[in-house]
Amino acid sequence: MRISADGSDVLVVGGGIIGLVTAWRAAQRGLRVTVADPDPGGGAAQVAAGMLAAVTELHYGEQMLLGLNVASAERYPDFVAELEEASGQETAFRTCGTLSVALDADDRAHLRELHALQQRSGLTSQWLSGRECRRLEPMLAPGVRGGLRVDGDHQVDPRRLASALLTACERAGVVFRRDRVQRLTVTGGRAAGAVLADGQRPAADQVVLAAGSLSGRLPGLPEEVAVPVRPVKGQVLRLVVPSAYAPFLSRTVRAVVRGSHVYLVPRADGELVVGATSEEMGWDTTVTAGGVYELLRDAHELVPGITELPLTETRAGLRPASPDNAPLLGPTALPGLHLATGHHRNGVLLTPVTGEVMATLLTTGELPAMARPFSPNRFATTGDSPASASAHEEQPV
Ligand code: GLY
Repeated sequence: MRISADGSDVLVVGGGIIGLVTAWRAAQRGLRVTVADPDPGGGAAQVAAGMLAAVTELHYGEQMLLGLNVASAERYPDFVAELEEASGQETAFRTCGTLSVALDADDRAHLRELHALQQRSGLTSQWLSGRECRRLEPMLAPGVRGGLRVDGDHQVDPRRLASALLTACERAGVVFRRDRVQRLTVTGGRAAGAVLADGQRPAADQVVLAAGSLSGRLPGLPEEVAVPVRPVKGQVLRLVVPSAYAPFLSRTVRAVVRGSHVYLVPRADGELVVGATSEEMGWDTTVTAGGVYELLRDAHELVPGITELPLTETRAGLRPASPDNAPLLGPTALPGLHLATGHHRNGVLLTPVTGEVMATLLTTGELPAMARPFSPNRFATTGDSPASASAHEEQPV
C-alpha cells in the first residue's frame, strides 16, 4: 500500500450500503477515506426488504456463494451491535426467522427439493405440515400445503442500515463528496482518483468501485477491466399493519407462486414489505400496474387478509447482478482499482462480510481467502458477454 501526501488513501465510488460499509471499515483501520456519491445512503437499499435469507434463498449451483452468505449471516448480530453503538441509531435487526410455504402440489415438490438441498448443504431447516404452518402464522391461507421453518434467516431494515452506516462513516472521519463521478482517473497505469461533475478531482492511492448496477458504466474504465454487472429490476410494496391487526405476521413468510417468488417481511414497527419482481429491463425503474398486481395477487393467495392493509409505497430498485449471481470483490487488472459490486439478491446480507474483506484488502493488499472465489478475475475473459456489452455504455455514476 502506498500512502499519498495529499488526497485520500481510498476513494470509494458509490455510497450505497456496500460503499459505506467499505468506507467505514477502512476508516476504522486508520485509512483516510473519501466517498463520492450525489446521494450517499441511497441506492438499492432504499427499496430492498432486508431479508437475511442465506438458507431460504439457497439456489442450485450457488453452493460457493452459500459459504459467503452464511459467513455474513453469522456476523450480523455483532455487526449491528457495533454499528448501532458507533452511529447511535437502530437498524431494526430482528431475529424472527422465516417460514417458506407451498400453496399447491408443485410448490410443495419444489420446497421438498429445496429442503433436501439445504440438508445436503448442512443447513438447518424443519419441514412442517400445512396445519403446523398455520399454527405458527394464523393469517396464512387455509390451503397452505406445507412449509419450511428456518429460524436462522432473520431481517434488518435496509433504510435504517444505510442511515446508520452513513452516520458511522461521518463519525469515523470519512469525507463525503456529494456529486456525480464523471470519470475514473488513471495515472501511470494506475487508478488515481476521479473527476467529479463539479470539476473537482479527488485523488487517492486506491479506488473502490461500489456503484451497484452502474459500476460497469463508469467512464474511464480501461478496456481490460471487466465489470460484468447488469441491473435486475425489483418492484417492492410497503404496507402498514394497523395496531388493531397486530401481530399480523410474526416472521418473514415467503412462497413460490406459479414460479414467482413472493415474500412478506413484517417489521416490529408495523411496516409490512412485500416483494419482489425480478425483471431484466435495463435501467428502467418504473413501477408498473402489472408488477403491483402480481405481487398483491400472489401475496393475497398466501395471506388473504393483506388486502385489508393500507398500501403506503410502491417502488422499484435495481439489483446489481453478475453473470454467476455472486459478488465481484477484489482487485482488477488496473492496479489500485478494486471492485465491491455485483451482490444481486444478497447486498444487505453480504454487507458485514464485504466491509471486512474490502478493509483487509485495502490495508494489507491481500484478499482474504473466503473472498478469493469472488475475485473479478473470474470474468477476465468474458469481454463479449451481454453483461459486459451493456456495461460499456458509459455515463457518470
Ligand atoms: N433477496 C430478495 C430479492 O432480491 O428480492
